[in-house]
Amino acid sequence: GTVHMKLAAGGEQDIDVTDGETIMRAATRQSVPGIEGECGGEMSCATCHVYMHAPWKEMVRSASEDEEDLLSADDNATDDSRLSCQIKMKPELDGMELHVVNFD
Ligand code: FES
Repeated sequence: GTVHMKLAAGGEQDIDVTDGETIMRAATRQSVPGIEGECGGEMSCATCHVYMHAPWKEMVRSASEDEEDLLSADDNATDDSRLSCQIKMKPELDGMELHVVNFD
């Protein structure tokens, strides 16, 4: 499927994501600026932070306690924040839009 990544610096990059693949993996594979995935998806870096808005955010598993903990340590976190290493692609998410949040 295709996911539209809204870049922190402005503009947009469309990425191809295979079903079952995480958004972080697909975004790092396709060099989306601002998605580093430093910890490899182990929920310890938060360099994969994105904002996921309605209607998509209701279509995925809600964040685990570990994910919430890590996000709450990021000053840029909002109710729409997710770690993209915890979001797996599925057919219903085709065409989804995500906003990249720069890690600082
Ligand atoms: Fe490190 Fe997602 S890749 S928390």
